[in-house]
Amino acid sequence: MQALVWEDRFSVGIRQFDQHHKILFEMINSLIFAQEDNSDPDVIKNTMEQLRSYTLFHFVAEEAMLKHFGFEGLDEHIAEHGELLQQVIVYQDRVAANDGVTLDEILDFLAGWLLDHTLGMDQEYGPFLSRYSD
Ligand SMILES: [Fe+2]
Repeated sequence: MQALVWEDRFSVGIRQFDQHHKILFEMINSLIFAQEDNSDPDVIKNTMEQLRSYTLFHFVAEEAMLKHFGFEGLDEHIAEHGELLQQVIVYQDRVAANDGVTLDEILDFLAGWLLDHTLGMDQEYGPFLSRYSD
């Protein structure tokens, strides 16, 4: 899989969250590079755990700000975040169980989700939050 490259169209217009999203892009790229290098399974597991943990941090920050300013689509947004986190945990369990799941499948899912979410649902809060933030 090709490394993800940040483009302006991914911006949600909120500097803090653009920064978080860029870090998530880089973390997915770390997994892509780990795959290309045929890294040790422990490296893959550690990278996935870092990604899960940073994603959780980012979601909590996003949800807290959306809640603080009374964003209407909050519940739907939280639900989509929750589905992603659950799926990451499922993949982590599958990697731990060595059930034959491929990193290709995991990367397809993660990169697809991140791009869809950043270009889709996250774009909805940009104009709303930009009234309150820089
Ligand atoms: Fe989001």
